[in-house]
Amino acid sequence: MPALRFLAVQRVRNGLGIVALKSFSSGALICEIDGDIVTSDEVWSFWKTDPRKAANCFRYDADRYLSPQNKIGAFANHSCNPNVRVVKHTGRLFFKALKPIAASTEIAHDYSTLLGADDSWIMRCNCGEVPCRKKIRSFHELPTAILRRYLAIKAIPDFILATR
Ligand SMILES: C[S@@+](CC[C@H](N)C(=O)[O-])C[C@H]1O[C@@H](n2cnc3c(N)ncnc32)[C@H](O)[C@@H]1O
Ligand SMILES: [Zn+2]
Repeated sequence: MPALRFLAVQRVRNGLGIVALKSFSSGALICEIDGDIVTSDEVWSFWKTDPRKAANCFRYDADRYLSPQNKIGAFANHSCNPNVRVVKHTGRLFFKALKPIAASTEIAHDYSTLLGADDSWIMRCNCGEVPCRKKIRSFHELPTAILRRYLAIKAIPDFILATR
């Protein structure tokens, strides 16, 4: 797996984001999404004390999340035309390329693929892609064609599908 030296946190369209410093081929593992595993109760408490920290959490399983703190995952933006998906392997989360990624391209995943049917978080999207879904919600509210495509390419982890 490439080291974090092949990625940079830079100013992009939506604040800070992760930018590839080299090209990656389709299917390449980009990096581990490192952080602390926290309970859903802890995430609820973050919403009261530090909403940004809560919004940055990645779903990890039925009732736990990964809080990336200030590590690379804290800078992962959403795109309605994502170039990476999140995969879970031996209890660890990784970004994996969905397509070839050129150097200097922002690395972005589709947040809906990690929002379970029991997650109520909604984000107003400004990804600039055509088409952009505008409101980003749980995977089970994805337009049928997108959901079908994501299922075909295994872009939605099993622990998210299991929330339905
Ligand atoms: C994990 S952080 C990503 C880093 C963030 N851009 C920053 O500057 O700190 C997630 C937050 O970035 C913003 N964001 C990410 N993708 C976005 C998008 N497509 N449209 C609008 N805001 C986005 C939202 O505020 C979201 O809660
Ligand atoms: Zn969008």
